[in-house]
Amino acid sequence: MSDTAPVSAQKFAPRVFSGIQPSGGLTLGNYLGALKRFVQAQDAGTETIYCMVDMHAITVWQDPAKLRRATRELAAGFIASGIDPVRSILFNQSQVPAHAELAWIFNCVARMGWLKRMTQFKDKAGKNAENASVGLFAYPTLMAADIMAYHATHVPVGEDQKQHLELTRDIAAKFNHDFGVEFFPIVEPVIEGAATRVMSLRDGTKKMSKSDPSDMSRINLTDDADTIAQKLRKARTDPEALPSDLDGLAERPEARNLVNIYAALADITPDAVLAQYGGQGFGAFKPALADLAVDKLSPISAEMTRLMQDVAEIDRILGDGAARAHAIAQPILEQCYDIVGLIRTRPSGMT
Ligand code: AMP
Ligand code: TRP
Repeated sequence: MSDTAPVSAQKFAPRVFSGIQPSGGLTLGNYLGALKRFVQAQDAGTETIYCMVDMHAITVWQDPAKLRRATRELAAGFIASGIDPVRSILFNQSQVPAHAELAWIFNCVARMGWLKRMTQFKDKAGKNAENASVGLFAYPTLMAADIMAYHATHVPVGEDQKQHLELTRDIAAKFNHDFGVEFFPIVEPVIEGAATRVMSLRDGTKKMSKSDPSDMSRINLTDDADTIAQKLRKARTDPEALPSDLDGLAERPEARNLVNIYAALADITPDAVLAQYGGQGFGAFKPALADLAVDKLSPISAEMTRLMQDVAEIDRILGDGAARAHAIAQPILEQCYDIVGLIRTRPSGMT
């Protein structure tokens, strides 16, 4: 037990945290499953902290120059999607040392068996797990640290991150239990809406991903209007007309995916999409979807291009965000060290 003031009575104010890896361009999956919902949380007036998780990105090899560019482009993507770097804190992970420091503590709390069960590790490591980096294995403890360094209470993510957030809860609970405190909140995953799992345009059973070898499988936020329209026109579908209710989509993953994408882009429910398009074929639905997608995504892409003209301004925003993030995370880290029994006696000025 630590000899600091008891933290058991601590209540946690609502605070949203989420992150995206700068490991390639943003996809429609990132936009609908994450970014668009980040903006909604910000606009609802909640305290919001968003992070470009560059240290997660290097768990697999990244070309340094490309990583720098991808990090800035991701920042541009956040801002172009509607994140206001004044109302939200926007920064890159490696500029705030508390993430890596807290991750080490969590490496000592999490159990090997817990991490071995992570499906993302198994997928990413593939057959040759012995050759995966130690960082890839420990990826989820760094993610838990990202969230817990801010005592965040809510984390909007896509469906694929559910298991990592359950692990975050387990780590927080074990830390609290082992040290007899209620120091870390038990975070709530926020996995909501029609687009928590946007699927590949080529295969309705696979997630849309920036790492899919086929560019036709995804829409990139940087695609121009013609490319977006062409990819949606060529998206794999079946020959049936759209059904009039959701039950009719049960065995039709590609059709369901396009309906979900339409719903998420238009901010309506999939039921409302079917109320409008039920009975119509893809010959009518795909062009309507393409128009909607171009309408919603083109301004984002144009704004990203504009923002990327001024890299110095992006770096200024990231520096400002990092300073604000550090001011929140550092006292939490110091308290955590104290609870664990690690002594800090360094001179003032060294933060
Ligand atoms: P990543 O690009 O893997 O760092 O993912 C960043 C965020 O986007 C996470 O919240 C993911 O769950 C979300 N995401 C990525 N791909 C998809 C997808 N195909 N559908 C919905 N959400 C996604
Ligand atoms: N693991 C997440 C992904 O691949 C990215 C991430 C890292 C994250 N740290 C986070 C998401 C903290 C939410 C909160 O998508």
